[in-house]
Amino acid sequence: MTIRFGIIGTGIMGNAVGRVLQLHPNAEINALADPAEERLEKSGKEFNVSALYSDYKDMLEREQLDAVAVATPDNYHKDPVVDSLYAGCHVFVEKPLTTNQEEAEEIYRVVRKTGKKLQVDFNHRWLSPYHKIKEMVLKGELGEPMMAFARKNNPISVPTEMIKTWASRTTPSWFLSCHDIDLVTWWFDADPVEAYAKGVKKVLIEKGIDTYDGIHALVTYEGGKIATYEATWIYPNTSPYMPDSYMELVGSKGTTQIDRQAEAIDAITEKKFVCPRTFLNYKVFDEWQGAYPSCVRAFLYAIENDTEPHVNARDGVRSTAVLEAIHKSLHSKKPEKIKINI
Ligand SMILES: NC(=O)c1ccc[n+]([C@@H]2O[C@H](COP(=O)([O-])OP(=O)(O)OC[C@H]3O[C@@H](n4cnc5c(N)ncnc54)[C@H](O)[C@@H]3O)[C@@H](O)[C@H]2O)c1
Repeated sequence: MTIRFGIIGTGIMGNAVGRVLQLHPNAEINALADPAEERLEKSGKEFNVSALYSDYKDMLEREQLDAVAVATPDNYHKDPVVDSLYAGCHVFVEKPLTTNQEEAEEIYRVVRKTGKKLQVDFNHRWLSPYHKIKEMVLKGELGEPMMAFARKNNPISVPTEMIKTWASRTTPSWFLSCHDIDLVTWWFDADPVEAYAKGVKKVLIEKGIDTYDGIHALVTYEGGKIATYEATWIYPNTSPYMPDSYMELVGSKGTTQIDRQAEAIDAITEKKFVCPRTFLNYKVFDEWQGAYPSCVRAFLYAIENDTEPHVNARDGVRSTAVLEAIHKSLHSKKPEKIKINI
């Protein structure tokens, strides 16, 4: 079986998915879509694809595709996802599913209606330490999971260089905390009910990027479980961590902590002190290894074997609902209720 893929958005993550698909025996990249001509052509050359489209709708209309990967900016996932599902394609979509709960719930309904597979790229679920904690929860080794704390902080190069064209259309919470929110919601296995958040705007605003420098949020879940999420985008670029990441889960009978600041390597070079990352996506000999390629391959497995993806549209809705309430709270300065309508 060969799964014919189209990729919408040929930036960092669109190319990352392409590199995994390119080496997969059962996948083929047939077409690419991106309005940014230079990026589109560069990716076309890399993946040896000549069907290049500035408008993804033309791609969906003209190409016979089985699946689409959507890797557009955070606030522009809904239209390409829904259009791809209606065009008969399975969809692998970047996190967050959307930046709007209503849109996320619409996607959930379209997935149900079309019967297509949708997987959100919450690839941290494939990172073995996070998975181990889920197993400890399921075995009862921590008792009842009750509290969590998560930090994901980036150097300022992320909003000012890496995603500078759309940083002001997202926030550090949408971009970073969404992974932690997905993990904690999975560990708790509970629906969120309320969020309260505060944020700071100063450094990035002064650089002409209208978004938060950082956000701290307190989220309550069913059964009174609580989680705190911290996301910051203004570490100096001398930070060796990309990102600085830490997670703690406290249960009634035990606690776990994962410090993923440096992952495995402390490298001191003449230029800089760096902690290169290898756990998420790294090429080992001829194969991409890590949580990200595993997540992509799991999506292919779900298509080939007609199984439910491990991280589905419902998971995407839950994390988007938490994040929407966090952002409502930043404006209202009050706790905001969360109600999932699916
Ligand atoms: N899962 C992860 O670990 C992870 C890591 C980084 C980024 N992301 C997510 O991936 C998504 C993309 O991020 P990125 O870092 O690749 O950004 P990027 O800026 O490198 O790429 C985005 C691309 O989308 C294109 N685009 C914009 N509008 C489009 C449209 N209408 N049709 C087609 N293409 C369009 C842009 O031209 C650009 O090439 C974001 O949602 C981001 O949060 C996920």
